[in-house]
Order: sequence, then C-alpha cells, then structure tokens
Amino acid sequence: MRLILVILFVVGLGVGGAVAEESAWGGQTVLVTGANRGLGLEFVRQLQAAGAEVIGTARKPESAEELQALGVRVMQLDVTDPVSVAALAAKLDGEPLDVLLNNAGAFLEHGDFESADPEAVLKVYNINTVGPIRVTQALLSNLRLGQHKMIMNMSSGLGSIAGNESGGMVGYRSSKAALNMQTHTLARELADEDFICIAMSPGWVRTDMGGENAKLSPAESISGMLNTLAPLTPADTGKYLNHDGTQLPW
Ligand SMILES: NC(=O)c1ccc[n+]([C@@H]2O[C@H](COP(=O)([O-])OP(=O)(O)OC[C@H]3O[C@@H](n4cnc5c(N)ncnc54)[C@H](OP(=O)(O)O)[C@@H]3O)[C@@H](O)[C@H]2O)c1
Repeated sequence: MRLILVILFVVGLGVGGAVAEESAWGGQTVLVTGANRGLGLEFVRQLQAAGAEVIGTARKPESAEELQALGVRVMQLDVTDPVSVAALAAKLDGEPLDVLLNNAGAFLEHGDFESADPEAVLKVYNINTVGPIRVTQALLSNLRLGQHKMIMNMSSGLGSIAGNESGGMVGYRSSKAALNMQTHTLARELADEDFICIAMSPGWVRTDMGGENAKLSPAESISGMLNTLAPLTPADTGKYLNHDGTQLPW
C-alpha cells in the first residue's frame, strides 16, 4: 500500500512537471533558427511537445527531413544572406512572434591564435554575430506584436572572457563574446518595451559541433535551457545564463 502511494506521488509529480512546462510554452509562437539538426532540432521537438506553435528555419528546407517530419512550419533562412532574411520577414509580415531563438551557429576554425585563418574567422563572425543582428532586426516588428517579447541568443561558455583560461578558438570565442555584448546592448535599448533579451550557453553537447565526447545529450541541454527560460521576466533582461540556470561571468 505504501509502495502504491509512493508510485502515485512520483507519477503525480511527473504529470505536474509536464503540465507546468506546457503552460509556460503552450500557445507561444516560437521561431528557431538552424532548426534542421543539432540543438535547433531538439528545441523544436521539445517546444512542440510543450504546446508551442513552432516555426523552424533551415538553409535547405527541402532536405530538412527530420524537421519536416515533425509537422511544424518550416521556412527557409540563411542568416548570412540579407535576401533570405528579408524574404522570411516578408512572409511573416504582420504575424505576432512571442519568442525568437537565434540558435544557428558555426565553428569553422581550430587551433591557436597564430594559425587562425582570418577568412574563416570572418565567416564565423558573419554567421554567429552578424546573423543574429540581421534576423533580430528583421523580426523585431513581429516580436513587438507578440506577448512574450523574448529573444534568446545562443552564445557559449567559450564566449566568456572571464572564463577563458586556455586560449584557442579565437574566431569562435570572439564571435560569441561579441554576441554577448550584442545581447546586452539590445536588452538596454528594449528595456522600456519589456523585452527579455538573454545570452545562453547550452553546455557542451553531443551534436555535429560538440562531437561525441561532449557531456550532455541534446535532450538534457535543451530541457535545461527551456526550464531556465520559461520563468524569466523583463527584470532578467540582459543576463548571460548557463543551461542549468546559473549566471555565467562575462
Ligand atoms: N554543441 C555544443 O556543444 C555547443 C556549445 C556551445 C554553443 N553551441 C551553440 O549552439 C548553437 C547550435 O549548435 P549545434 O551544436 O546544434 O551545431 P550544429 O549541430 O553544427 O548545427 C548548426 C546549425 O546551424 C545552422 N547554420 C549554420 N550556418 C547557418 C547559416 N548561415 N544560416 C542558417 N543556419 C545556419 C546549421 O544549418 P546547416 O545544416 O544548413 O549547416 C545547423 O542547423 C550554435 O550557435 C553553437 O555555437 C553549441
């Protein structure tokens, strides 16, 4: 009898958790960039399961089979291509958007500072840093029509200047440090409009980018990120947060 009561309690907690998650994201319109694989695809899966209306973008929607199979709205977007960004904005003209997840990113160069290829660094900046500026500018009018007004820029622990003890990966690190400053700047400029602008690290995750030795599964990372994002209010705008909800040092 006692065992049955314990089981009922645990099941009840589980159901309670799921309902809490659903109520946080249910009915929210969320646009995720780079949604065809990796963390972007997992964002779409979990948000859809939590009841959100998800728009997943991909550079090549026609070959984004896993994303298409989820049955969400799929739209074309290359964050480095102003024509692609403008076309997305035109298609979404007048539609409210509650949450923008600037997730698309790349890690194109390895090695130390001396051997870094400046052309590869420029490409990384264009995707990781300038891309979110293009996309956010293009969709700001949609976010202003939304209820939640949340913009999450996918940063990285490697973007922390204070946390950089080893050097290396100068292009990627500096692209994300600049993204952090971009997030903070946007947060200050939009503070009067009750926006929530957040830079986040997903942790080290087993995706094409993170590799197989990474500590977290995409499911673990994204559930942590969504649980961290769900309760945030405009008072939290401008924060740089880890997937587990802790604050990261700039
Ligand atoms: N995995 C980690 O350990 C880790 C750690 C810290 C931060 N992050 C960040 O988390 C985000 C997602 O990383 P991930 O691990 O999921 O990487 P991933 O598996 O390599 O996926 C990257 C995604 O970004 C898209 N993308 C790349 N360039 C793009 C462009 N120009 N326009 C639009 N989309 C583009 C890719 O699309 P295609 O398939 O078309 O290339 C893909 O959907 C990135 O911002 C990354 O920097 C990851």
